[in-house]
Amino acid sequence: MVIETNVTKMLGIKHPILSAPMGPFYTTKLTVAVSEAGGLGVLSHINLTGKNSLDELKKAMEYVVEHTEKNFGFNIRTARLQPDAIKLCRQIPRFIMENPKIKEQCTYLITSAGSPRLIYNKHFEKLKESGSNIKHFHVAPSLYLAEKCVNSGVDGLVITGSEGGGHQSYENISTLVLLQRIRKKLPDVPIIACGGYATGEGLASALSMGVGAIAMGSRFISSKECQFHDNIKNVIIKSEASDTELVTGVFGPIRVLINEFSQKHGLVSNKAEKLSEETLASEIVDEVKHLEMSYEGNIKDGAVLLGQSIGIIENVEGVSDIINSIVNDAEKCLTTAFNNILNK
Ligand SMILES: Cc1cc2nc3c(=O)[nH]c(=O)nc-3n(C[C@H](O)[C@H](O)[C@H](O)COP(=O)(O)O)c2cc1C
Repeated sequence: MVIETNVTKMLGIKHPILSAPMGPFYTTKLTVAVSEAGGLGVLSHINLTGKNSLDELKKAMEYVVEHTEKNFGFNIRTARLQPDAIKLCRQIPRFIMENPKIKEQCTYLITSAGSPRLIYNKHFEKLKESGSNIKHFHVAPSLYLAEKCVNSGVDGLVITGSEGGGHQSYENISTLVLLQRIRKKLPDVPIIACGGYATGEGLASALSMGVGAIAMGSRFISSKECQFHDNIKNVIIKSEASDTELVTGVFGPIRVLINEFSQKHGLVSNKAEKLSEETLASEIVDEVKHLEMSYEGNIKDGAVLLGQSIGIIENVEGVSDIINSIVNDAEKCLTTAFNNILNK
């Protein structure tokens, strides 16, 4: 079964499914597996503090094109507090331009957590002028930001609701409500829906709203190829949707597994309050420490970034099986819905 959409055509992929970026962790092998399976694998912005992130991203891109001929993408967090954002925005486009194989296969840049404009520099312009098919999407957690992104000139939007794992916004709006609002106001903008997706039912619902693809984080963590610790994969398949909560992270709210870490962290409910209490350096160090703990498998004390979709994930499977079953189930759902409407 092939479901072709505006987004699959833009990105040069078979299936309307992307892996969501999951920095500061490595998703290099997952990227290869998702792209090989016909979706679009996305490399993460590796290091919260910015240490070595440029070299890490270059190495990851080289690894991907050595292991697959298929297209892939990458993430840059452009947050004000992200120390390496400007450096990556300038140097990665130049690196891509100098590497023909990477230039051919890298069709997607997702910026997030800050302004989409940071990437609009002369290096990115040159990359586009030199024949690259790269498309720039930005994560929008609200209609206000979606409109700003479109005015800035993005090629598309990743609409991410508050049920999603990891970085969230203060707006705290669900993917379903956000999508309805943005589709009505911006009907012609290519959209990738993100946050809460893990099944064919989810993909079918997104497609029926005119969305071009879905991106999944938690579902792909619980895949055989993902480099995350088995303790995280195992807790996902045992958990309910209610086992996560929002707490305050460096860039704003983060959705995490409820555990010792989450219970020690409150939730600052708005941006103004957060800005007024910025104690940057120590906060970053603390968050990185707890993220690293979780990556090493300490799911009791670490910051275990996960979405509510863990409540609908029942097993650890290979990426190809995950993608094929989601696409097949989506087709069945859409056919059933269509037949119901026609009373067949
Ligand atoms: C472990 C983890 C790390 C994440 N790191 C990032 C990141 O570095 N940049 C980003 O834009 N989003 C990040 N996110 C958010 C995901 O890209 C995506 O929005 C989220 O996983 C979607 O929800 P889902 O987990 O229900 O699929 C992260 C999510 C997780 C679970």
